Amino acid sequence: MQRRAFLQTGLAAGVMGMGGVTAAPHLLKLSPRTGLKGPIRLSSNENPLGIAPAARRAIIEGLVDANRYPQGSGRMIEALAAKHGVKPENIVLGAGSTEVLKMTVHALATPSGRLIVAEPTYEDGPWYAGALPVEVVKVPLRSDYSHDLDQMQARASAGTGTVLVYLCSPNNPTGTLTPSADIDAWIASAPDTMYFLVDEAYFDYVEDPRYWSAIRWVPERPNVVIARTFSKVYGMAGIRLGYGIAHEETAERLRRFRVRNNANHLALVAGMASLDEAGFVERSLDVNQRGKRILHECLEDLGLDYLPSHTNFVMHRITGDLKTYREMMLERGIRVGRPFPPMLTHSRLSIGLPAEMEQFAETLKALRKEGKV
Ligand SMILES: Cc1ncc(COP(=O)(O)O)c(C=O)c1O
Repeated sequence: MQRRAFLQTGLAAGVMGMGGVTAAPHLLKLSPRTGLKGPIRLSSNENPLGIAPAARRAIIEGLVDANRYPQGSGRMIEALAAKHGVKPENIVLGAGSTEVLKMTVHALATPSGRLIVAEPTYEDGPWYAGALPVEVVKVPLRSDYSHDLDQMQARASAGTGTVLVYLCSPNNPTGTLTPSADIDAWIASAPDTMYFLVDEAYFDYVEDPRYWSAIRWVPERPNVVIARTFSKVYGMAGIRLGYGIAHEETAERLRRFRVRNNANHLALVAGMASLDEAGFVERSLDVNQRGKRILHECLEDLGLDYLPSHTNFVMHRITGDLKTYREMMLERGIRVGRPFPPMLTHSRLSIGLPAEMEQFAETLKALRKEGKV
């Protein structure tokens, strides 16, 4: 098939696919971006802008080669190495950063080791440890919602065997960060046998000068792995592309646990185009800031406390029961975040487009008038 004819077919299929989406009858809101019916998704920390325009074009063009096994992982690895000032051998691609978390737990938390995590934090580390003889040690966050590094260190140093420490900063679901100087101090003093998995999924959203990447440890410390993703600021959550950055020895250990060809062809072409597209990251950050301002104003009007967020989501107080609150929101066409025990007096709300945030604010205020929040 000629490339042009294929592109037209691909485009037509895309449009038909969008029109074919059916919505549950009670979910009648229109998405301001797609015009489709369905709940507004403020639940999974996705980028409401969609993918970068150049990535969209690259996917449509890339469909021509979708019958072939992926070719572009070498180029992507080179591009990421250059972006981060490391060697290609330090980069491990994943189907989302989820696969990097899985590889790291499987490669480094065994045999019979311990995984030290905060509580609450992103659940995937413990989830992938679940099938292994790995003890998961949960250490509550401090009252300022930073990681309690002293307690984590005490728990990590007690006992024998392999130790993997998972540090998510900024942390999901709280949006709060743990000062990078404190993380650095621990890594600097830790034995080589203690491994660190530093999850920087929300790195691009942070403006706080107390925050920087842990990538600086990679050349000298084989016990540090950093996880990054194209799912958030690049808006590629549905396409699945992430990567780990680690010392070459450690990167090789992780690769043994990857699924071969894990970065698919369309993810690779979209990822390359996203890296090259000027201005998209800035637009993502700007939309996020505007949405967050609308949310903050609404929560302040209603006297509902919220945590300072360095991400594209905000953890805020609710009154009453979280399950009922989530159901009430869904009935009104808004999907909010899942429960994060033990923070069951809070709801995690992802930042959508400004129009979506206005709709959320109106809904919350209406619920307040009815005495329901
Ligand atoms: C902290 C954190 N890490 C990792 C992920 C997984 O992202 P992905 O697999 O889409 O890269 C998420 C997703 O929300 C996250 O919040």
